[in-house]
Amino acid sequence: MKVGVLGSGDVAKVLGAGFLNHGHEVMMGSRDTAKLADWSAKNRKGRVGSFPDAAKFGEVVVLAVKGTAAADAVRAAGAENLRAKTVVDATNPIADAPPQNGVLKYFTSLDDSLMERLQREFHAVHFVKAFNSVGNASMVNPRFDGVRPTMFICGNEEAAKKTVTSILDQFGWETADMGKAEAARAIEPLCILWCIPGFLRNDWVHAFKLLT
Ligand SMILES: NC(=O)c1ccc[n+]([C@@H]2O[C@H](COP(=O)([O-])OP(=O)(O)OC[C@H]3O[C@@H](n4cnc5c(N)ncnc54)[C@H](OP(=O)(O)O)[C@@H]3O)[C@@H](O)[C@H]2O)c1
Repeated sequence: MKVGVLGSGDVAKVLGAGFLNHGHEVMMGSRDTAKLADWSAKNRKGRVGSFPDAAKFGEVVVLAVKGTAAADAVRAAGAENLRAKTVVDATNPIADAPPQNGVLKYFTSLDDSLMERLQREFHAVHFVKAFNSVGNASMVNPRFDGVRPTMFICGNEEAAKKTVTSILDQFGWETADMGKAEAARAIEPLCILWCIPGFLRNDWVHAFKLLT
């Protein structure tokens, strides 16, 4: 697949490299391509461009930008360039205020989510929430004593969720499809839970597993 990645932070870099290593073509997108110079040096086959370049390039596009800037980044990428495409939404609505006893603050409520806001504004884009509930170090080929951890996903388009499920299979995850976009109200806060041991005990190596 041709994959566009919107972002130049750790998540974008890890997922961009992961797609390359799993045999896909990748173009990273940033407002400042100089931020991706190190990534390019380590990932020679990867391309780098602007947000619109990466959005146009991708058959599938990953959104991996700061939550407070997610809508701006999609606007900058161009909704037309993302029309009817699967957009893997790894963002979390983390507020600028600091965590309280290790508990992150969000700028959304439990009756709304960042992905729903994006889906409402960019209705022709097929958003699928994924990769938001684990640290970037475990996003690709996670290692938990041979156990596949669970990635919770949601989104309104079944075909887009199938595409994301096949990516997750390839990257070493079990997928739990939690339904339509509203489920992001539950999936986004998993990041708050995931981060607590990190902030309290500097323990950042864990992932969720759904037992059935
Ligand atoms: N870090 C993790 O392990 C982790 C795990 C799960 C989920 N997440 C979520 O994944 C997302 C990315 O996290 P991250 O830690 O890799 O990076 P980050 O520092 O949260 O975000 C960096 C990216 O945000 C973009 N950005 C910032 N302000 C912007 C603006 N005003 N307009 C457009 N773009 C803007 C930057 O674009 P430029 O490239 O143009 O500067 C850059 O690509 C976040 O939503 C985070 O909550 C992170």
